[in-house]
Amino acid sequence: MRSATQVTAEVLRAGTRLRVVGRAGVGVDNINVEAATQAGIVVVNAPTGNVVAAAEHTVAMLMALARNIPQADAHVRAGLWKRDKFMGVEVRGKFLGTVGLGRVAQEVARRAQGLGMNVLAYDPYVTAEYANQRGVELVDLDTLVARADFLTLHVPLTPQTRHLISRERLAIMQPTARLINVARGGIVDEQALVEAVEAGKLAGAALDVYEQEPPDADSPLRRCSNIILSPHLGGSTVEAQEKVAEDVALQVLDVLNDRPARYAVNAPIIPPRDLELLVPYIDLAERMGAL
Ligand code: MLT
Repeated sequence: MRSATQVTAEVLRAGTRLRVVGRAGVGVDNINVEAATQAGIVVVNAPTGNVVAAAEHTVAMLMALARNIPQADAHVRAGLWKRDKFMGVEVRGKFLGTVGLGRVAQEVARRAQGLGMNVLAYDPYVTAEYANQRGVELVDLDTLVARADFLTLHVPLTPQTRHLISRERLAIMQPTARLINVARGGIVDEQALVEAVEAGKLAGAALDVYEQEPPDADSPLRRCSNIILSPHLGGSTVEAQEKVAEDVALQVLDVLNDRPARYAVNAPIIPPRDLELLVPYIDLAERMGAL
């Protein structure tokens, strides 16, 4: 599945012969991985196939925000021609802050550097040296949020990252700053974001993902013209969809043929006949450990 299908514990229970769940993309927040693990069902994903697509969509959102492209497009279609309403900003020389410095963020950083931007990152899982090797300055989260001219999010949605960009963090952003979320809805407090943009405390935002997808018809996001919206298109390129489909199909075949899958999310896969041989040694190791 992609990101819309919810693979709940109930869905997993209904699959009495189910052995593998394939996620054609990276995020597994729509799968109850714990329930799958307990039922001995392997979850595989495709964490690399749509990395470039997600990074390119982030850069598209960055430029759309800097130059008001969607609003200007709607303006001309409406038969208007008020050029002074759409004064843009250059990205060259500006600070791009990325929350997370994983695969997508690194691709975004390289492209942003090509546009002449300075890249800062917050990522508790990497060292300053690792970041420096990529031309990126590693800082703490509040410093990142306060210094960024453009803040982009590249972390999964977990209990720790839910509302990471909270009302308090939005308040320390510069009023000229802009926020981009092509990662997962829920990382930003949407209500607080709308209020910050409407109060002029933030210049704008671009969202591809939402706390609820699609957002409600009366969602305040829809009325806020300084917030650009796209319908979860980060991974939607011809190239990325071919790649993730192939990555997942090959892994499903691997699991069904008792071979280890490359990107198993919930378990290193041990084929049943190997497991049979290993069980006495696991027992022995546990006893030795206890002793
Ligand atoms: C992902 O998690 O890979 C992206 O959000 C794209 C998708 O919906 O599959």
